[in-house]
Amino acid sequence: MTKCFIIAAMTADGYIAKEVKHAAFWTSKEDKKRFVELTKQAGVVIMGLNTFHTLPRPLKERINIVYSPDKIEGIETTAKEPKELLDELDGRGIKEVAICGGSQIYTMFMKAGVVDRLYLTIEPLIFGNGLRLFREDMHYHLELKSVVQAEHGALLLEYKVDYSGSMKLN
Ligand SMILES: NC(=O)c1ccc[n+]([C@@H]2O[C@H](COP(=O)([O-])OP(=O)(O)OC[C@H]3O[C@@H](n4cnc5c(N)ncnc54)[C@H](OP(=O)(O)O)[C@@H]3O)[C@@H](O)[C@H]2O)c1
Repeated sequence: MTKCFIIAAMTADGYIAKEVKHAAFWTSKEDKKRFVELTKQAGVVIMGLNTFHTLPRPLKERINIVYSPDKIEGIETTAKEPKELLDELDGRGIKEVAICGGSQIYTMFMKAGVVDRLYLTIEPLIFGNGLRLFREDMHYHLELKSVVQAEHGALLLEYKVDYSGSMKLN
């Protein structure tokens, strides 16, 4: 099956946005650089319709796949379960995809038990309220693979999901 990773930036208090229309342009340059590098390396970005609407245009040089109940002109849309979508992408020869949010899509993929790695950036900010990275009950163990402290205090974390020690609540 095609491998997938989650990539997200959040505040020190765990929020990825203040509300659904709040675009993720508040992140550090180091986070943006890592996002571009990793998503281009994967070649395919998967996101929900709300996140897609926060972007000025589809992400260039990457296949954009958008979870949407309706078709969008010129964009690949889907409503498939994560495992079914990853199987289909495997059949198309795609080795890896980046799950780019938002909260609804991160939760759906995490709960499906298909996420191999999480690239999380903790920005030195507090929103106090808003959308969390995940929005449902779950319990997974993570193995910390790397930490980079960026110039202005952002932490770039890389985790691997340890399914052997995790309880999957699907
Ligand atoms: N900080 C970060 O790194 C980061 C990254 C990405 C996004 N964000 C932020 O996250 C926010 C958006 O998150 P969100 O949770 O509100 O929305 P979202 O996950 O981006 O998208 C939800 C949308 O996807 C559709 N969808 C979900 N599952 C579907 C399925 N199985 N079939 C068809 N359509 C499906 C939903 O359709 P229905 O309407 O039918 O349910 C809904 O319209 C924005 O503010 C964005 O800026 C932050």
